[in-house]
Amino acid sequence: MTKPHLPGHVDPILAAGDEPTSNASGNAYFGDILEARMSRRTLLRGSLAAAIAGAMATSLPFGRALAAGSSSPSIGFKAIPIGTGDSVVVPEGYRVQTFIPWGTPISGNMPAFSLDASGEDQAHQIGSHHDGMHFFAIDGSSRDGLLVLNHEYVEPRFLHGAAAGLALDADGFPQHEDGSRDADQVRKELNAHGVSVVRVRQGDDGQWQVVEDRLNRRVTGLTPMQLAGPVAGTEHVVTKYSPDGSMTRGTLNNCAHGVTPWNTYLAAEENWAGYFANEDVEIDRRQSRYGIETRAEGRYQWHRAQGGADEFVRFDATSRGASPSEDYRNEPHAFGYMVEIDPFDPESTPVKRTHLGRFAHEGVIFAPAVEGQPVVAYSGDDARFEYIYKFVSARPYQAASADGSLLDEGTLYVARFNDDGSGEWLALAPGQNGLTPENGFADLADILVNTRSAADHVGATKMDRPEWGAVDPANGQVYFTLTNNTRRSEEQVDAANPRAENHFGHIIRWQEDGTHAAERFEWDIFVLAGDQESGRDMAGEPLGQEAIFASPDGLWIDPDRRVWIQTDISESVMNTGIHEVFGNNQMLVANPETGEIRRFLTGPIGQEITGVITTPDQRTMFVNVQHPGATTSTEAFAAGESVSHWPDGGSAIPRSATLVITREDGGIIGA
Ligand code: FEO
Ligand code: CA
Ligand code: CA
Ligand code: CA
Repeated sequence: MTKPHLPGHVDPILAAGDEPTSNASGNAYFGDILEARMSRRTLLRGSLAAAIAGAMATSLPFGRALAAGSSSPSIGFKAIPIGTGDSVVVPEGYRVQTFIPWGTPISGNMPAFSLDASGEDQAHQIGSHHDGMHFFAIDGSSRDGLLVLNHEYVEPRFLHGAAAGLALDADGFPQHEDGSRDADQVRKELNAHGVSVVRVRQGDDGQWQVVEDRLNRRVTGLTPMQLAGPVAGTEHVVTKYSPDGSMTRGTLNNCAHGVTPWNTYLAAEENWAGYFANEDVEIDRRQSRYGIETRAEGRYQWHRAQGGADEFVRFDATSRGASPSEDYRNEPHAFGYMVEIDPFDPESTPVKRTHLGRFAHEGVIFAPAVEGQPVVAYSGDDARFEYIYKFVSARPYQAASADGSLLDEGTLYVARFNDDGSGEWLALAPGQNGLTPENGFADLADILVNTRSAADHVGATKMDRPEWGAVDPANGQVYFTLTNNTRRSEEQVDAANPRAENHFGHIIRWQEDGTHAAERFEWDIFVLAGDQESGRDMAGEPLGQEAIFASPDGLWIDPDRRVWIQTDISESVMNTGIHEVFGNNQMLVANPETGEIRRFLTGPIGQEITGVITTPDQRTMFVNVQHPGATTSTEAFAAGESVSHWPDGGSAIPRSATLVITREDGGIIGA
């Protein structure tokens, strides 16, 4: 007997795929910054946006510095209108193949897709909720390679045959009357998380296919992982599973990713905190600052799996034993990292690189590696009022010997965006910027496990939910999407986050002062997302109908400098109210020189578009569609209906999947 998951167990913001606000620090919001620049109180919201964008474009050196000497990429397709249908639309002259939907067999005995597939079957099938992704060419080929992709979370009602007919919302799950859960359903949900590594090849007919290959692999919420860097082996991560604090199990909520200069894959752990219950009355900052509060429930109640297996019980972080090595009070401290996976070694143990910081990592983006220079990587913490970080390695990059150990020694910095267009990287290191034992930071491991608290302490700038980053290959400028933040008040507005109640988000960019390892930079706002009233391009001009978008999230700059922007309007607001004009989530292309934006792709109902990469020849593009049908109401689901049946059509349940995009004339995508 199962009963529906009761609404109210889960923070509604978390349920919509977002992170609850947990930054209670008293950092300044630089609320007076714009006051100094313009008397904005006299301006209406729409003209405020124009004034801000205009001020950015004219008062900072950025746009002018950029224009000199760099050439614009060609953007040759005809923009498409917004989409509202249950299909994928691309420009004239382009083709789309739907590829590797959730449940596609890739390894083991190749278990066929079925709603009734077991938890073990799922360990050999593509996971759910496709997100960040990279194509690792084999021998430089653009027709043969490893596609590696993240699976951010699951929607249990679309995952289990046994969920049919239950009154479940997008975050609901089947459970027994006593609150316990079926153990195999829990195993399936854990195995539908994580990362897929799958060999893919283009046939002579132009279609891409999965190749059964020894490199095909699932890394899941259950895979053993090594901890590396300063937090590894410390008391922070001692558990019953790993009394010496060297190991943990699984990676969760893998949103975006990164690719290292030594050709390995990094999966980000974003909204991991929601998965844990903790009934302790006192919860310290290692959990409270990340949104874990006293509660008996976790996101999917995995710790309530019947049978009490250790791998499920660990999602209860309550202090139940006599010491940390007898329970899982420290289990959440082994999450919130970037996880390195070598896709070319299927036997390798994934490694959590703790020196890149512990937060809601959206992803990570590496600056181009330079022989003899430090390795530099940027990462955003996607929650309201959180920060943007940068890691600079201690040892120099040497192509012949570079490996993940470069990420275990160095300095983590956090960004401060000043009102005058300058910026600073503030070191999160012992003894620097007040990070001393007297101020509550015992050592480097303590700083890193409490990255958010350390960033609060040094006075970093609170951003409007940092998502993906990208580096312009021509000039090294770094772009970051700031997806939205409706909770920013007028008093909390600053120059880098210039709109109160930021419904639509913006994209910021900066240029380091010299090399990427510099401690200073200059910044600008590239675009204020929005409708034709509120959106502004880098020149301060309104966005045209072909360019309007909201909630930028995925971001990638291709080798020709086309800036690909993907949107994630929350399913709680998409296609309603002020978001109606944007239609379904979409992907656009921007010109970094002119600021021109053109809509390239629109997706089916209820989904977000996320994850984008091309083959080296840029003639095949892979794009992910995540959570189609997520806007299906509880009542509709109970009645056996869904607002989306993509990609299979008919009455099929909706499934996340990858799009393979090519041109009819075989040309470069976007050109
Ligand atoms: Fe998983 Fe911040 O998007
Ligand atoms: Ca999302
Ligand atoms: Ca995202
Ligand atoms: Ca998002």
